[in-house]
Amino acid sequence: MTGNLANMRKNYMRNSLDETSAAVDPFDQFQTWFNEVRGTDALEANSMTLATVDQHGAPSARTVLLKECDQRGLVFYTNHDSRKGRNIVENPAVALVFNWPTLERQVRIEGLASRVTDEESDAYFQSRPVGSQIGAAASPQSEPVPDRAFLEARFERLSNSAESIRRPANWGGYRVTPAMFEFWQGRPNRLHDRLRYDRTPHGWEIIRLAP
Ligand SMILES: Cc1cc2nc3c(=O)[nH]c(=O)nc-3n(C[C@H](O)[C@H](O)[C@H](O)COP(=O)(O)O)c2cc1C
Repeated sequence: MTGNLANMRKNYMRNSLDETSAAVDPFDQFQTWFNEVRGTDALEANSMTLATVDQHGAPSARTVLLKECDQRGLVFYTNHDSRKGRNIVENPAVALVFNWPTLERQVRIEGLASRVTDEESDAYFQSRPVGSQIGAAASPQSEPVPDRAFLEARFERLSNSAESIRRPANWGGYRVTPAMFEFWQGRPNRLHDRLRYDRTPHGWEIIRLAP
């Protein structure tokens, strides 16, 4: 089944990234690349891999959606009682990865996650489609459930309630404050461009890494 994997490879030809053209501020560089990938037919360009670690240092990773990005950091929403939410309580150090194959680009971010304010979570929750609000309220995310019917019954019960759905207390946003960004641009012959931005007391420092 995996017989042909060894022959699966792509030569990256589309773009380059160098110190003279890269933004001084990694948030600006991120915004530029994000705007560019949104201009392609990339599906869910705002999806990102979020890696967390538990109290024993065991890692886990999953996809979440970027919902806001500014100089304060990158925001996603989830269930605070989920595995990722529990990990962040134990250890707020997280990593994010965006893979944007249409532009042969990857962005890696490392930093600390902290909860956004209740007001921000409320505002985002209210902006979601009602079905998503009910789904979030109905799902004890990351907990074992007996079967699908269990979830559908919970969804149904909330859907039939006369009251509007309020944000569950265990659901909200996290903001990742980056200490590091790395921008990776695929290049021919595996000589890819990698620029890393490290946050220092004097601002962001840029270094080039070997591919
Ligand atoms: C494209 C995509 C986007 C997703 N976005 C989110 C999200 O924004 N928030 C979320 O809690 N889960 C999201 N998920 C589901 C997570 O990957 C994961 O299954 C869930 O959050 C439970 O993870 P945990 O048990 O590690 O906490 C998404 C999954 C996919 C495939």
